[in-house]
Amino acid sequence: MWIYEKKLEFPINIKKTDPKLAKLMMEQYGGSDGELGAGLRYLSQRNTMITAQGKATLNDIGTEELAHTEMMATIVHQLLQGATKEQIMASGLDTYYVNHGLGVFPCNAAGDPFTAAYIQSKGDPLTDLYEDMAAEKKALKTYDYLIDLTTDPDVLKPLRFLREREIVHFQRFGEALDIVRQHLNENCVFDMPCNPLRKC
Ligand SMILES: [Fe+2]
Repeated sequence: MWIYEKKLEFPINIKKTDPKLAKLMMEQYGGSDGELGAGLRYLSQRNTMITAQGKATLNDIGTEELAHTEMMATIVHQLLQGATKEQIMASGLDTYYVNHGLGVFPCNAAGDPFTAAYIQSKGDPLTDLYEDMAAEKKALKTYDYLIDLTTDPDVLKPLRFLREREIVHFQRFGEALDIVRQHLNENCVFDMPCNPLRKC
């Protein structure tokens, strides 16, 4: 179970309405390498992780990604607040508006709705952890690109915080991978018949 803390992991107070920027920020809310997908990926994968440390890592990071999903939703919401008809038309969010108004909907910057096909849960601890490390690198790069296109300091601050967290997550998944590898080397844990290409 989860206990909800009624505050953001990092404060967000955007003063300038900017629907064009909101459209870009949607990438890290409901895009392929975004926070929603990250949370669902890790919290799904934890069920078949084979070490206690790996399970805890997936649980911790998956939980934090939900907090990051909340942060990205807040950024999109605050950037959309008070948007005028002219701003919406100029931002390219007119097609979004006719379906969602100024609501926050999980989609990417191009407007494609979120899909679980963005993520994987393969039932194999090494495969999942390699995916997770790649996912963190991809999220980091997306934050770099978003930071490149942002000048608003109120948006840059939380983006930089989120970017830093991706670095920490990558390192933690790397540690989990080492521990799982060691565990597999020490214990014959596969239920399947021995595979000569595998250690056990
Ligand atoms: Fe992350």
